[in-house]
Amino acid sequence: MAKDLSFSCSDCGAVFSKWSGRCDGCGAWNTITEDKPISTGPASKTLGGKKGHVLELTDLASQEPEPPRTAAGVAELDRVLGGGLVKASALLVGGDPGIGKSTLLLQAAARFARNGLKVIYISGEESASQVQMRARRLGLEQSPVKLASETNLRDILTTLDAEHPELVIIDSIQTMWADNVESAPGSVSQVRACAHELTTFAKKRDIAVIMVSHVTKEGNLAGPRVVEHMVDTVLYFEGERGHQFRILRAVKNRFGPADEIGVFEMTGKGLAEVKSPSALFLSERGKPAPGSVVFAGIEGTRPVLCEIQALVAPAPGGTPRRSVVGWDGGRLAMILAVLESRCGIAFAGLDVYLNVAGGLRITEPAADLAVAAALISAREDATLPSDCAIFGEISLSGGIRPVSQMENRLKEAQKLGFSSAILPVLPKRSSVSGDALRQMTDVAQFVEEIFGAR
Ligand code: TYD
Ligand code: MG
Repeated sequence: MAKDLSFSCSDCGAVFSKWSGRCDGCGAWNTITEDKPISTGPASKTLGGKKGHVLELTDLASQEPEPPRTAAGVAELDRVLGGGLVKASALLVGGDPGIGKSTLLLQAAARFARNGLKVIYISGEESASQVQMRARRLGLEQSPVKLASETNLRDILTTLDAEHPELVIIDSIQTMWADNVESAPGSVSQVRACAHELTTFAKKRDIAVIMVSHVTKEGNLAGPRVVEHMVDTVLYFEGERGHQFRILRAVKNRFGPADEIGVFEMTGKGLAEVKSPSALFLSERGKPAPGSVVFAGIEGTRPVLCEIQALVAPAPGGTPRRSVVGWDGGRLAMILAVLESRCGIAFAGLDVYLNVAGGLRITEPAADLAVAAALISAREDATLPSDCAIFGEISLSGGIRPVSQMENRLKEAQKLGFSSAILPVLPKRSSVSGDALRQMTDVAQFVEEIFGAR
């Protein structure tokens, strides 16, 4: 009988009938491996034929209390974790090289140790003395954190078994090496095998394991995506190289809300938490200028104000440029199309640059109206009042849709000294009202009222 060969990509899961070096599905290299065929022997050999154990079924209502958490005592970190670190959990912290992951985790290790956890920090990238130097620079050298520089996972697990820590930090998963897997450290199969070992270890020994991971240029965690599925929590540490602040973002969290962010500022003495992100994001705002708009956004559970900047200039021929930093390029194309077809404001023959100031990355559609305002303001060379905050989602038909937490956005704007706002229509029972709140139903009305009859 001909053997049915099947190959699949360990990154994206695409299935192929023959092996190749590059996956056609996701473009990754060296990720395609042969799948072992499922046994087609007599029924007694299949899973269904052989008797297994009978599982004990339980009710949905749990007898157990909430999982106990240990807080770091750093509000920005604890919020992202969903209130603190949970026992028997595996976390992945991803970020670009040099963004500050090792610094963040050494500081976190010291905090958790101070709050009573037994912490072990394993560095596969730096020598013990390098980590000690960092600890001294951060003023943490007296913290009761145990340290080792090692990449051999077998030795690491043996040590952890002997030491009984409650929190282990592995910096980074790409440097770890399991001797039962025949490939180089950092390869997909090594990363996957090591992450699997560590995750299983965390569950079995009832401890928390934090793995650091580098991010590829495309923004994926290097190594297979399956690692993201394996762990309970995935955090990204992000920020722009030239800026002093960093954002810790939960993209997956089995023990708390996803999309929550923590904001930190880089200082000579390490990362400091930022209590009022809005004030920080707006601190670089200069004089009111055409193309500059303040967007009242929500990040996780918290309102965050930031500046959106647009520049519109004649394209010197050829295809006009569309360049976006901190927002979605497809969404920008949509807003440009809506402005052109619903309001007759054309951007053909014009270069368009859009930037979210300070290196923040916005994913909310609620930014649509602020982006539209910035684009028109730049194109018409018309400055918007500097005390005005904007938010609202734009639909393809040109309507302005209500967004979540409108009152929270307004309250944060008011707190930061913004006395007026342009927004979708508030619900009837809204507790806020007043002439300074200019509620809009569609983009044509918005253009007419804010930028004058055209
Ligand atoms: P590091 O933590 O080593 O980054 P990663 O582990 O992500 O590669 O930090 C990179 C550099 O930035 C390092 O030289 C220390 C410096 N740094 C500061 O001086 N202050 C800070 O608050 C942070 C986060 C980093
Ligand atoms: Mg590092």
